[in-house]
Amino acid sequence: MVVLMKKLWLVVGCVWVVGMVAVMARGWFSSSSKAENPSASSGLTRIGFSKVGAESDWRMANTKSMKMTFSEKNGYELLVEEAQQKQSRQVASIRNFIARGVDYIVVAPVTEEGWDDVLREVKEAKIPLIIVDRMIKSASDDLYTCWVGSDFRKEGDVAVQWMEENLGRERDLKIVHLQGTMGSSAQIGRTAGLQAGLERNPAWHVVVSDSGSFTHAKGKEIMEQMLRQHPYIDVLYSENDNMTFGAMEAMDEAHRSYGLRGEITVISFDATQAGLTATLQGKINYNVECNPLHGPRVEEIIRRLQNGEQPEKFSYVDEMSFDARHITQADLDAREY
Ligand code: AHR
Repeated sequence: MVVLMKKLWLVVGCVWVVGMVAVMARGWFSSSSKAENPSASSGLTRIGFSKVGAESDWRMANTKSMKMTFSEKNGYELLVEEAQQKQSRQVASIRNFIARGVDYIVVAPVTEEGWDDVLREVKEAKIPLIIVDRMIKSASDDLYTCWVGSDFRKEGDVAVQWMEENLGRERDLKIVHLQGTMGSSAQIGRTAGLQAGLERNPAWHVVVSDSGSFTHAKGKEIMEQMLRQHPYIDVLYSENDNMTFGAMEAMDEAHRSYGLRGEITVISFDATQAGLTATLQGKINYNVECNPLHGPRVEEIIRRLQNGEQPEKFSYVDEMSFDARHITQADLDAREY
């Protein structure tokens, strides 16, 4: 009897062990297929977002806008990959998004050139690709779904028109030109605006033009050098607020006056909260807006695609500009970024 009981317990034990192994195996396999295709099981729309980096206040505001819009609460899973201002990293991220089978890919490209191969791969994978902020140059517009962002050339034209109207076209102006990341649409457009102004106004001269990669640190470094080499500077044309802040630091340290009551007129771009604060204080004479709040704009594009509609191929954002003589506290209070 005892022997019989022992055998029975042995059988029960074996059945329990086999059952446990089966349950664990089922759990393991189902979780590995979930990792391959979470949208199928989670019901969330999966978006791969390749961002340029963290070079400026503008970029931080742009990332925040994307994260707030594409939250789980709103029905999305957002995979963000940061490229540290390197195109090669963006290409690798896009390939990673394809391999992970995301529903949409959103790219804020660092520079305009060199995208064709990876865009073809996205098209082959049949994943809609939305370009945001800066533009790309590709063999064909058919390689991406659509683009939304700023008219950077118009921003440059607006700044130069202000210079013509307020500093004079006949005046011998010595201009320091701080450029953004070379080859990016923001740099290309704003530089082209200044270039056109120089052609129209032969009395204007750029004493030095150099790239500060849109960062505070580089803006300061370049401006320090400029101030040592050039005793007379009339205008600082700085292609974003963060480089302007760096240049302002350099001018403070060198005891050079600038802004509304100073010797150097300061032109800046972005009009972020910090940029508008400096404009209200009279440290920046003229600030041209570049609006980073693209999250809701990209979501609207995705909503249209999901409804089977065709979104506009190119959508430009309306932007404003601020003159230190007219800006008010209410303008600053209304600024969301
Ligand atoms: O592409 C937008 C530009 O990139 C902004 O002007 C700048 O601040 C950012 O880094």
